[in-house]
Amino acid sequence: MVEKIIAPRGTSDILPEEITLWRQIEVAARRILENYGYAEIRTPIFEETGLFVRSLGQTSDVVQKQILQLATEKQNGLALRPEGTAGVVRAYIEHDMDKKQNLAKLYYIGPMFRGERPQKGRLRQFHHIGVEAIGMAQPFLDVEVIALSVNLLKGFGLAGFKLKINSLGSPEDKKNLSIFLRDQLQVNISHLCEDCRQRFERNVFRILDCKNEACRKIVSKLDLSGVHLCEESKVYFSKVKEGLNLLNISFEVSPFLVRGLDYYTHTVFEISHESLGSQDALGAGGRYDRLVQELGGPSVGAMGFALGLERIILAGPTIEGDESLRLQIFLVTMGEEAYKKGFLLANDLRTSGLSAEMNYETASIKSQMRLADKMHARLVIIIGEDEIKEEAVTLKDMSTGSQEKIAVKNLIEVIKKKLC
Ligand code: HAM
Repeated sequence: MVEKIIAPRGTSDILPEEITLWRQIEVAARRILENYGYAEIRTPIFEETGLFVRSLGQTSDVVQKQILQLATEKQNGLALRPEGTAGVVRAYIEHDMDKKQNLAKLYYIGPMFRGERPQKGRLRQFHHIGVEAIGMAQPFLDVEVIALSVNLLKGFGLAGFKLKINSLGSPEDKKNLSIFLRDQLQVNISHLCEDCRQRFERNVFRILDCKNEACRKIVSKLDLSGVHLCEESKVYFSKVKEGLNLLNISFEVSPFLVRGLDYYTHTVFEISHESLGSQDALGAGGRYDRLVQELGGPSVGAMGFALGLERIILAGPTIEGDESLRLQIFLVTMGEEAYKKGFLLANDLRTSGLSAEMNYETASIKSQMRLADKMHARLVIIIGEDEIKEEAVTLKDMSTGSQEKIAVKNLIEVIKKKLC
C-alpha cells in the first residue's frame, strides 16, 4: 500500500468548512484595526536569524528552543519568524518610517512558527493578529493599544476573558527586579525545578510564570508589588491604570506577569480565557522602548500585542454572519436544454460579479433544491421547459419562499436589486 503523507506535527490544514469563521474573524479584525487608525504591513515569513536573537534575547525560551532555522547552505542564517514584532521593527527602520510620521500604527495578520512541543493551543505553525504602534512612549497610547486588543476580542463575540497588566519599569528597574529576584530565590534554589534552576542564571523572570507546583509555591511567597519601580515608572504605570479605568476596562494588576520575550519595558499585559486549559493566553503584548534603537533605528518608544488566532477559535467566538460570504444564487435546471441555458447563465452571473453555483450532473429537482439549501443560497433560479419557451426564469427567494417569473434580459438587474 502507498504510504500517505500527513501534515507535519504541530501544523494543521484550515479546511473550506472552517474558512468562513477564519475569514469572518479577519474581516472583523481589519475593520476594527482600521477604525483605530492602523494600516496593514506584510513582512517576510523568514528573516535573518540574528534579527530574532537580538530582538527576543539570547536567553528567551523562543530563541533557546523554538527558532526554526532554514537548513540548506544557501539559506544559512535565515529562520522562520516566531513572532511579528522583530520583522515590523526591522521594516520600520529600513524604510525610515520615523521620517514619515511621528507614530507608525501598523498591523499584521499571518502565520508564525515555533519549534514547540505541540499540545492543545500550542502549535508549530499558528497565526497572529498583531499590532505595533512605533514612535512614542505615552501612557494613553498603552491604554489605547490594550483597549484595542479587548475590543477585538469583543468584536469576535468572545466574553469571559481576563486582562492582567503589570509594569516592568525602565531597563534600570528591570535590572533591579532581576537582582531582587535572585536575592530572594537564592535560598530556595535547590527546591526549584530543573528548568528554573537554569533560568535562575539565564533569565530569572521566567521563574515567575513556571507552572511547576513547587516553583509556584516558592514564587507565591514573594512580595513583588512595585519593589523595583522608580518614581517615574510608578507615575507612568498609574496613568495607564487611570486610562483603563476611564475606558471602563476591567483589569487585574499582576506583579508576577513578566512575559517571556526580552524586549519588554514598562507596561506588559496578557489576556487569558479559562476555557483554554493550560495554554490559556488569548493574546499578550507590552511596551518595548529600547528595541528600535537596539536594532539600529532612532530612539523611539513602541507598544504592541499579538492575539493567537487558533486560540481565539478554540475559545468559541460568536461572530455575526457575513452576508458577503454567502452563496447568492443556485441554479436548478430540468433537462439537457435547460442545463445548457443554466450553465451559460451561471457564467454570465459570475462575470457580472455575483456568486453562482449549480449541479454538475443531472439530478432531480428535489435533490438540486436540497443542495441549494445546504449551500445556504439566498436565491434559486429554476429553468424548465416553460421558462425556455418564455425566455424567462423562475426566481425563488429562499428566505421568504416567494417566487416570480423574470425575463432573462432583466434578470441580472433584478437580482442585483434583490441582493442589495
Ligand atoms: P507571545 O505572547 O509570544 O507574544 O504570543 C502572542 C500570542 O500568540 C499568545 O498569547 C498566544 O495566544 C499565541 N501563541 C503563541 N505561541 C503559540 C503557539 N505555539 N501556538 C498557538 N498560539 C500561540 C508575541 O509574539 C509578541 N510579538 C506580542 C507583541 C507584539 N508584543 C509587542 N508587540
